[in-house]
Amino acid sequence: MPVSLPPALEPLLDLLRCPTCRARLHPGPGALRCPAGHTFNIARQGYVSLLTGTRATSSDNAAMTRARDRFLATGKYGPICRAVARLAADAVPEQGRVMDVGCGTGYYLADILDQLPGTRGLGLDTSVHALRSAARAHARAAAATWDVFRPFPLADGAADVVLDVFAPRNPAEFHRVLRPTGRLVVVRPTGRHLAELRDQLPAVITIDPAKEQRLHQALTPFFAATGTEQIEYATSLTRCQAIDLVGMTPSARHLNRTDLHDDNLLPDRVTVSVLATAYRPRWPRTGARAER
Ligand SMILES: C[S@@+](CC[C@H](N)C(=O)[O-])C[C@H]1O[C@@H](n2cnc3c(N)ncnc32)[C@H](O)[C@@H]1O
Ligand SMILES: [Zn+2]
Repeated sequence: MPVSLPPALEPLLDLLRCPTCRARLHPGPGALRCPAGHTFNIARQGYVSLLTGTRATSSDNAAMTRARDRFLATGKYGPICRAVARLAADAVPEQGRVMDVGCGTGYYLADILDQLPGTRGLGLDTSVHALRSAARAHARAAAATWDVFRPFPLADGAADVVLDVFAPRNPAEFHRVLRPTGRLVVVRPTGRHLAELRDQLPAVITIDPAKEQRLHQALTPFFAATGTEQIEYATSLTRCQAIDLVGMTPSARHLNRTDLHDDNLLPDRVTVSVLATAYRPRWPRTGARAER
């Protein structure tokens, strides 16, 4: 039996566009289709596969997704989540639309939807493992495969808020899909984020000190910052939480199991240190490239 249209996707259909020909998409048995016949399957786990062809290699794998799900469920990143919701809330009208790009398991999107009744959300990610969680994260959250570096399968001005939390960015597309009074909310680590993990495990990827400047350069042609919150606190970690915290980052690919299971290498306390900034779109904008 074909998979039916996920209820959270139905109210967002008018905002979706065929990735191949930009026409509107309509539901059919087990898939979305455009009038030209381009077809995008709806997975039984509730997300729609808009991304066809070659996949980006940076997707989170199944083990990383499980680690992320478990770690975020501890509430250890709750203060980040609350800052994101505060920064987004001003821009979301009743019946607003929130797009979470690189949504992972949908943790931040679900929290915003919880706090803003009537709002609907769409999570985009290249990882089908992450999207299986994101599609279940909230009754008003839909999920679709997409690569942030390609033109988004969304209409111009489709979003009231675009979230980008620890994920790659495409400023030109963020600008195109935001309505003029919308907000982009970007969360990224400072140099102190999880420093204790990096001290102990050299394979944990370091944060490039020039990253903040690159972010600024990439966003400035399209966006002006309206407010930044610095979130910094220390948090204790059990051994399992420390293993998950390492396991949910791309660093997990560079570490061997012995490193992770050596008690002396895992800290029992880490510093969480991130910046969360809200941006308004500039009109008119000047052109610039996607930032990797
Ligand atoms: C560090 S995780 C952050 C996930 C989520 N925003 C969170 O903070 O819990 C980065 C996410 O970006 C996704 N990702 C990586 N490259 C991507 C791309 N080119 N397009 C879309 N998503 C991508 C990964 O699969 C992963 O889910
Ligand atoms: Zn089409």
